[in-house]
Amino acid sequence: MKATVLIIGAGSDIGAAIAERFAREGHPLLLAARNSSRLLPQKADLEIRYNIPCSLLEMDITETGKLAGIWNQLPEKPGITISVVGYMNDNEKVFRDGVETERTIVTNYLGPAVLLNAVAEEYIKAGQGTIAGISSVAGLRGRQSNFIYGSAKAGFIAYLSGLRNRLYPHGVHVMTVLPGFVYTKMTAHLALPGLLTAQPAAVADAVYKGIQKKKNILYVKWFWKWIMCIIRMIPEGIFKKKKL
Ligand SMILES: NC(=O)c1ccc[n+]([C@@H]2O[C@H](COP(=O)([O-])OP(=O)(O)OC[C@H]3O[C@@H](n4cnc5c(N)ncnc54)[C@H](OP(=O)(O)O)[C@@H]3O)[C@@H](O)[C@H]2O)c1
Repeated sequence: MKATVLIIGAGSDIGAAIAERFAREGHPLLLAARNSSRLLPQKADLEIRYNIPCSLLEMDITETGKLAGIWNQLPEKPGITISVVGYMNDNEKVFRDGVETERTIVTNYLGPAVLLNAVAEEYIKAGQGTIAGISSVAGLRGRQSNFIYGSAKAGFIAYLSGLRNRLYPHGVHVMTVLPGFVYTKMTAHLALPGLLTAQPAAVADAVYKGIQKKKNILYVKWFWKWIMCIIRMIPEGIFKKKKL
């Protein structure tokens, strides 16, 4: 029997592609979303096409006080947990609005961290399990155009790194996913450079293979690693003068 895969943010373009990739391999699915009834057509489609069991789970990642309870009440715990959930709004709007700042930080970092703490405790007890978190290269250096989202993703990158270190002795694998640009609803309003931008199906394929190979940090397009390496080496005195 293949491990059940919990996908948090399963209604997103990337989440839906990951669900389909695992369904194709015969994994049972548990799809989580804040309005899970919207996933009913996706559930029916996956069950019919791939002949796998697929359940839905209602979860708002900003309701941090409820997350551990939702996990603890699951009758059977999924062996693989993938956090895809995220939120990005225009940085200037977020900058001027405390509620938007909080929403950005809670959705991209605090909520996933609170939930994954509960998942990790279970996996420690079981002595096995896999956690993957979708962060962003935006978390590798703060830029004026996206620094609040980026700072939340940076927090999530550091969290996943520490979690990997904490869980390694217990046989639990933790993978950080840095997709680079991806064509999705989140980025539909942006003019993305074609060469640097992945399709959700490519992200899903990389996540599936990364989990099989027990990768620690996954760049979906390999050159993002080197792009970010160069960007991170630019001295702060020069970086602060750039319009990035
Ligand atoms: N697109 C890119 O270029 C790119 C690049 C790097 C990283 N990422 C990351 O990839 C992940 C998926 O993003 P995407 O591009 O596919 O965009 P998306 O469609 O906007 O996905 C965001 C997902 O998060 C869910 N979500 C937001 N707030 C939530 C809440 N309070 N509770 C529960 N779920 C909530 C959304 O659910 P609803 O459907 O209910 O809104 C949606 O499923 C995100 O973590 C994003 O930061 C994207």
